[in-house]
Amino acid sequence: MSKPLSALPHPPGRIPVLGDIRSADRRRPTQHEAELALQLGPVFQRELLGNRLIVVGGAELANQTLDERSWGRALVGPLAQLRELAGAGLFTARSKDPLWAQARRILTPGFSQSAMRVYHDAMASVADDLAAKWDASPVVDVHQDMTAATLEVIGRAGFSCRMGLLGRRDGAAEGTEQFLASLGRVLVWASESTNDVPLVGTVRELLGARRRNADIAACREFVNGIIQERLQAGDHDHTDLLGLMLETEDPETGARLPHHNVADQVLTFLAAGHETTAALMEVALYHLAADPATADRIASTGLDRTPMTYEDVVKSRQIRDYLNECLRLWPPAPGFFRVARTDQDLGGYHIPAGRGVFVLALAAQRDADVWGPDAHEFRADRFTDERITASSRKFFSPWGTGPRSCIGRQFAMHEANLLLTTLLSRFRFRLEHSDELVMRERATLRPEPFTIIATSRKS
Ligand code: HEM
Repeated sequence: MSKPLSALPHPPGRIPVLGDIRSADRRRPTQHEAELALQLGPVFQRELLGNRLIVVGGAELANQTLDERSWGRALVGPLAQLRELAGAGLFTARSKDPLWAQARRILTPGFSQSAMRVYHDAMASVADDLAAKWDASPVVDVHQDMTAATLEVIGRAGFSCRMGLLGRRDGAAEGTEQFLASLGRVLVWASESTNDVPLVGTVRELLGARRRNADIAACREFVNGIIQERLQAGDHDHTDLLGLMLETEDPETGARLPHHNVADQVLTFLAAGHETTAALMEVALYHLAADPATADRIASTGLDRTPMTYEDVVKSRQIRDYLNECLRLWPPAPGFFRVARTDQDLGGYHIPAGRGVFVLALAAQRDADVWGPDAHEFRADRFTDERITASSRKFFSPWGTGPRSCIGRQFAMHEANLLLTTLLSRFRFRLEHSDELVMRERATLRPEPFTIIATSRKS
């Protein structure tokens, strides 16, 4: 017989009424939960003022929640907060909202593997601009450059719009820096407010409301500018994501997406796409800079073809394996919410229908029971040595799961693969300081800024 939820293990030091307030960590909530998972086991609870969060950090139980017949996606936590920013964009739309299904049908072809062939040249132009920048100034602020590169990629490949952060600035969108600053503040708020200490959080919320509303308005104004420019140009021939959203009829209903929803989607792609892919690139660059021998080995395996073609990228399995190890150890989306469709037993505890749980990929992807004793270490060849299959006990789900899994997976992998192979083929890099990799959280898990020194392989 399953035990009730109240019997789930919880952090030490619980206080009546307030709950596990002593273990609330507003700034690094998921890293703190991953530490708790090591102490408390594969499923545990955290409670604040009667609000109970159930955290699943063990691989076996996390795998159990992937079964779509028994579990669905839940729109809670930072996701629910981000609805204020991105409305009914794919990421923040409710699964029952007909606009979600319509947008997903219209956009899926735009994110297929074959669509990457269309975006390849735009992505390659960003890789070239980045390499030119590193040639000119070898002391690289990795955070700044990956933010610039990933936003440029979405702008150029997705909306045929230069963002003005890399390469030539003429004809670029205006106000990109302000957009970035506003977006950054909104992401911090979404992450911190859902993990805040009760009451203090409410006060903080009220004090920050005006600033936040202004930031959200600034973000929306920026994307409306991109859409208006396309509409005013009256150009109907674009094969990019924006063209797809403005011109394509839903194959099922025949309807087009309303313009306010197109704005939600553009904002979603700019936010969901750049921050996560930048985090992945930064983790990869950190490990390559910390381990030049591995970087040299990968660079010597046929990365010398310039320019990299679409086929070269698709074939470069070694980089893909390397990126997968980065995604395993530091998933940019550290977890996702699932809701029980019917009563469930999870590790001996009764989860009633309708109850949500937080699947902490950050912990489950490091579960030593399935990943082995070196689960917490970065091992460059891990994914080369063994294939992860659907029947594998190993939990590996950095893209989420089911119908709400990441639509941008192919896009992100093609982009990261292309950027990384271009940089690896042209540069050796080393860390400026031998700093540990420290991660910060703002709905995503992303390295704190660090610097590398890039020198041309030709010199
Ligand atoms: C390394 C890069 C990326 C990672 C690790 C990542 C991860 C994820 C995860 C875990 C989810 C599911 C979240 C949940 O279930 O609550 C998701 C959803 C989503 N991602 Fe990504 N993502 C990445 C890149 C991108 C890119 C480049 C785009 C678009 C250009 C994108 C667009 C989206 C959208 C729109 C959704 C919501 C899909 C839906 O609910 O229909 N992502 N992503």
